[in-house]
Amino acid sequence: MTDITIIGSGNMARGIGTRAVAAGRSLQVLDREPAKAQALATELGAGVTSGAIEGANLGSIVVLALPFDAAKEVVTSLAAALDGTTVIDITNPVDFATFDSLVVAPGSSAAEEIAALAPAANVVKAFNTTFAGTLIEGAVEGLPLDVFVASDSDEAKAAVVGFVTDAGLRPIDVGPLRRARELEGFQFVLMTLQANPAFDTFNWNTGLKILA
Ligand SMILES: NC(=O)c1ccc[n+]([C@@H]2O[C@H](COP(=O)([O-])OP(=O)(O)OC[C@H]3O[C@@H](n4cnc5c(N)ncnc54)[C@H](OP(=O)(O)O)[C@@H]3O)[C@@H](O)[C@H]2O)c1
Repeated sequence: MTDITIIGSGNMARGIGTRAVAAGRSLQVLDREPAKAQALATELGAGVTSGAIEGANLGSIVVLALPFDAAKEVVTSLAAALDGTTVIDITNPVDFATFDSLVVAPGSSAAEEIAALAPAANVVKAFNTTFAGTLIEGAVEGLPLDVFVASDSDEAKAAVVGFVTDAGLRPIDVGPLRRARELEGFQFVLMTLQANPAFDTFNWNTGLKILA
């Protein structure tokens, strides 16, 4: 079985895929357009496989590298195929029409909405605070990226922590899946700063890191 399946072939798929290859994990890239998945797999290197989303044999960790609405659609369509699987939700459910709020209700999160659609999957929130470009190096200013990890499944969380560690990044276990509310809110603030001309060195190239 493949170690890691990434669904989507955009910027975050490229970033997390680069880290998966660096971690020595077997990797599969899936896309609604298999040719796009194949192009990214070829770019990521020898041994990376690709295909269509529907009907694929999924890896033990499935990364939803998709916009929030698409992630909900795909999780719903995959249904039982995700049972018992570790599913990483990386989404930031920002209202892009206003860039002034999240689209999830207060007291909820994208991760919890996705988990409700796949109750037998083990959903983990991770990578939502790492910008895609920084994942290629895995570091900003020479410091490994922090990856905040939240889940109600200890087993799934351990699997993601292991992947993040092997990928050369620093995992930080922030607790249960409901901590995704704060991770999504925090990243929304970081996103507004990247778009704010007052911070002229912030250009989707920053890292959110805890220093001690
Ligand atoms: N970019 C970042 O720095 C960053 C950082 C942290 C978290 N995130 C989160 O990561 C997720 C992906 O972001 P991204 O920057 O990688 O976006 P992206 O570059 O636009 O890639 C999105 C991928 O989703 C696919 N997709 C879109 N709608 C779909 C649908 N209805 N069904 C199936 N596939 C669909 C796209 O396929 P097509 O090419 O065919 O449209 C593409 O492969 C988002 O939820 C975002 O909030 C992004």
